[in-house]
Parts: sequence; C-alpha cells; structure tokens
Amino acid sequence: MSITVNDPVVVTNKGGVCAVTISRVEKKNALTDAMYGTLVDALEAAEKDPGTRAILFRSEGPMFTSGNDLKDFAAAAMSGVGDGPRNVERFLEALATATRPIIAAVQGKAIGIGTTMLLHCDYVLVAEDAELKTPFIGLALVPEAASTLLLPARIGYARAFEMFALGESVNARDAVAWGLANRVVPNVQLNEAAEQVAQRFVELPLGAVIATKKMMRDVQAIKSQLEVEKNAFVERLQSPEAMEAFTAFMEKRKPDFSKCS
Ligand code: COA
Repeated sequence: MSITVNDPVVVTNKGGVCAVTISRVEKKNALTDAMYGTLVDALEAAEKDPGTRAILFRSEGPMFTSGNDLKDFAAAAMSGVGDGPRNVERFLEALATATRPIIAAVQGKAIGIGTTMLLHCDYVLVAEDAELKTPFIGLALVPEAASTLLLPARIGYARAFEMFALGESVNARDAVAWGLANRVVPNVQLNEAAEQVAQRFVELPLGAVIATKKMMRDVQAIKSQLEVEKNAFVERLQSPEAMEAFTAFMEKRKPDFSKCS
C-alpha cells in the first residue's frame, strides 16, 4: 500500500484501488489549484500503473466539496488567468480521458465542480443528505467540465439550465431518478459501500472495462467542449460581474449585478 499525503488531498493505493480523499474540512473542501494538482497527479499515476484498476473519489467531513476556491478564482482573475494552463484544466482533461473506472462517494453538498466532475465518474454513490448544485451563472461564470454538453444530455435541457441558472440543489433521491447517481445509501454506510463497489470493479477484467468505457464516452466531443468552455470561462472570470460575485462572497453579502453591465 502506498500513501501520498499532500495536505488537503490524501491519496492511497491499496488492493488495486487508488482512493483520493479531499480533506480541507475547515474550508468546506473548497478546491484550490494546488489541490487540483494533486488530484491530477493521482489520476495520471493511476493511468501508468497496471496495478491500479479503479479510482475512488471521496471527502472528509460533512460536505463533499463547496467547489472551486472562490478566493483562488478572484486571485486568478486579477493576475491574468489566461497566461498559463491551470491545474484545474489538467484535472478536467485527465478525468475526461481516464481509462480506469471512477467511483465517487458524495455526502452533503457537492457544489460546482463537485457536481460536474460526477458526470465523468462511472459509478456515483450519494449519501441520504447529498445535494448536487451548479450555481455557475449566479456567480457570473459559465459551467465547466464539459457539463454544458454532458448535463443536458444526462438530465435534459430544462433541468440542466435550471441547475446552472438558478443554482437549485438536486437531492439524493432525484439525483438517482435523473441518472446523476447510481445509488443512495445512509451516510454512515457511504464509505464502506463505495469501497465495496470499488472492489467489484477491481475484480472485473480491466481490458473489457476500458474497452467498454471507451465506446460509451465520446472523448473527442468532451475535449472540444472543454476547450470551448475554457475560453468562455476565462473571459467571464475577468468580468466585472464575476469580481462582484467573488467580492460579495468574501464580504458575506448578496451580489449586486445591477451596476456591472
Ligand atoms: N471557496 C473559498 N472558501 C470557501 C468556499 C469556496 N468555495 N466555500 C466555503 N469557503 C470558506 C468560507 O469562506 C469560510 O471561510 P472563513 O471561515 O475563513 O470565513 C469557511 O469556508 C466556512 O464556510 P461558511 O460559508 O461559513 O460555511 P456554511 O456552512 O455557512 O456554508 C457553503 C457552506 C458551502 C454553502 C458556503 O460556504 C458557500 O456557498 N460556498 C461557496 C460555494 C460556491 O459558490 N462554490 C463555487 C462553485 S463554482
């Protein structure tokens, strides 16, 4: 068994399962660019290791993740985010092209990328209190992770646009009914249930899993949507509207977009 502890992300590799645990509980597991770096390193290492037969994403604490760190967004916007590739982009590409089966165990809120990353997972377990939420438009941003392609394809345009625009939460039961998750389990059983699913994947013939996954996912279409979204996202990130949204979050107030246009 190997363990990599890179502070708020812990990666373990045991019995063919690469388990990646997000652990920044005091900030509601908000993801910084450095944390995406650890996540992508784990995915890339899994791809190169013939002994890794499944990947499991999970989180410590009551919440899966509050999504991208909004202070990171504000800092990136001010320092000119278009200047170089960010780890988040590497992470999204690695998710989109991963050949190993990916399992996610989601408790509490999964906001923004916390939900859109699930569209790239192959088996999603949600705890009874799970809430999936993608409030990109309210933050003056656009969705990422190819979710403008994958979410409407999965749940239909009406529900997808409502999630993006109004930021409505989808509860665990609806997540399963809408095809965003496979199974609801009681919170106390989430980790064990996820490990059991991962173990079942480990026991499958990996070549057949990889070949099936390849035929079921249009990686080229996903990669080209990632590029389209990235360009729109970078533009939005540097907009006065986005700065108002980030500032309002930091000042713990409601944003006022009326003076931004
Ligand atoms: N980015 C940066 N910091 C975050 C964060 C995020 N996405 N989510 C939470 N935090 C920080 C808060 O700023 C706070 O820090 P502080 O203790 O230094 O003030 C700490 O985590 C606790 O968050 P708090 O808002 O007090 O907890 P809560 O239980 O009242 O609310 C959330 C939790 C997740 C509902 C709320 O924090 C939130 O809405 N976060 C933003 C979610 C979001 O819009 N994500 C981006 C999607 S693209």
